[in-house]
Amino acid sequence: MRHHFAAISELQRSIARGHLSEAKELATWLADHAELPQEGWQAYLDELHLSALEVAKAKDLPTAASLAARLGRACSKCHEARDAIVTFAWEPVPEEGPALATQMKRHQWAAARLWDGLVGPSDQLWSEGASVLAITKLDTFQAAGSANRGDVTALAANIRAIAARAGKVEDHDARAVLYGELLSTCAGCHQLVRPNPVPGP
Ligand code: HEC
Ligand code: HEC
Repeated sequence: MRHHFAAISELQRSIARGHLSEAKELATWLADHAELPQEGWQAYLDELHLSALEVAKAKDLPTAASLAARLGRACSKCHEARDAIVTFAWEPVPEEGPALATQMKRHQWAAARLWDGLVGPSDQLWSEGASVLAITKLDTFQAAGSANRGDVTALAANIRAIAARAGKVEDHDARAVLYGELLSTCAGCHQLVRPNPVPGP
């Protein structure tokens, strides 16, 4: 489980950062390693396996984003069915600051909490992620490389709108859809303003 979890956390990070090929490699790994210690629960495992394979075949980042969110939901469906108690490592919220790099750390933190909240499933983690995302600044002038760009501003506004909706949505399937939109928006801006992101951890 821990291995699965590490790979799939990496997966959502790669998509957010706009690294499609890295995301596909991780999904392939996950599809090849979709096994569980206990017998039974094959239907849930099949769903996990299929979702991972679909991410591995995704044609673009928005598609990969929504499929990855469905994959996260496949994890949580089994947890719900098994009454599994899923715990996550605690990470402190990064402080707010004027530098874009700092703001991005908070975005990443919030996206990771929403993700944990989706996979758990955990209402508490989901809500924490949503509320931090809703109040985290995003300096669009800096993001656009010291320029005013309508497309960049619109994407930043989208993040805020998704965060506000996330704070209200309770249905787990609807949360997964919203999470897919979020990842796709992160990836969209990174593709726009950082067309050649440096690969790395
Ligand atoms: C077929 C059912 C099933 C599927 C699918 C499944 N899990 Fe689990 N998971 C469990 C069960 C049962 C437990 C609790 C018992 C255990 O730790 O093995 C658990 C526990 C966990 C834990 C907590 C482990 C710990 O040591 O506290 C994490 C994290 C986790 N799962 C992540 C995931 C992720 C991520 C996915 C999807 C890629 C996933 N799980 C898919 C059944 C499933
Ligand atoms: C409006 C545009 C925009 C949006 C939306 C956006 N980012 Fe960023 N992000 C940037 C820019 C520009 C950088 C580069 C900043 C730097 O290098 O100082 C960056 C850098 C990052 C980095 C660090 C560099 C890297 O590639 O690892 C992370 C992590 C990150 N963003 C996560 C996110 C997440 C998660 C979201 C969505 C919840 C998001 N970002 C949404 C513009 C955006």
